[in-house]
Amino acid sequence: MKEDNQQPTKQPFKTAEKLLFIVAGVFVIFAIIAYGVMQYVMATSDKPIFEQKTHYNLTAEGRKGSEIFRHAACTECHRAMRGGTNMGNDLDGIGSKHSEQWIERFLKDPENTYGDKTMDHGAAPKQAAYVAKMSDQDRHLMAVYLSELISDQGSASSPVPPKGESPFIDSMIKTWAPKAWKEKYTDIRDKKPSNQGEK
Ligand code: HEC
Repeated sequence: MKEDNQQPTKQPFKTAEKLLFIVAGVFVIFAIIAYGVMQYVMATSDKPIFEQKTHYNLTAEGRKGSEIFRHAACTECHRAMRGGTNMGNDLDGIGSKHSEQWIERFLKDPENTYGDKTMDHGAAPKQAAYVAKMSDQDRHLMAVYLSELISDQGSASSPVPPKGESPFIDSMIKTWAPKAWKEKYTDIRDKKPSNQGEK
């Protein structure tokens, strides 16, 4: 039998292997440089990296609602005015999607307002079941507050796409939207932008 366990002779890297190492190395170096540049820009620029697309200008009622909102631990699941968590929906900009009435109705009767099953809002033992049990007054004030969280047209939380013509959106619709949709749905861009969503 031939002896297999002989000391292997050292093999130099093949050209392809060398190339692979160089390419991987270049990637790593670029990543480090990009990280450094980003840190530098973040540290020296006073402009936010991400443009703020949501804003609020609270009325007196809205401010009361915002306090109730915070005390009622809604921020354990929701983000609003940049604070809170992302367990539930981001509520920044919700005032551009839903009317105050809709929000108030949702808080009281979530499943019927959604017309579908909900995860956390609703009847016990759902985690946010307590919301439907709060007083009408508290729910009303929170709805006023939330309806004052507005998003800019064209932002991710806005139901209305960016202003102006977009050849990109046009071509995407032409390519991907089935013909039947044209009869079934209207192009939201043909509607007048408004700050209130459905009733
Ligand atoms: C345990 C987590 C949790 C808590 C606490 C919670 N929510 Fe929610 N919320 C959700 C989830 C999840 C949804 C999506 C609907 C569902 O599945 O219940 C939602 C949906 C909503 C919506 C509808 C948003 C939309 O655009 O459809 C509103 C408004 C809302 N919550 C307000 C509140 C308020 C006000 C409070 C506090 C009084 C609160 N939530 C507390 C998890 C929570």
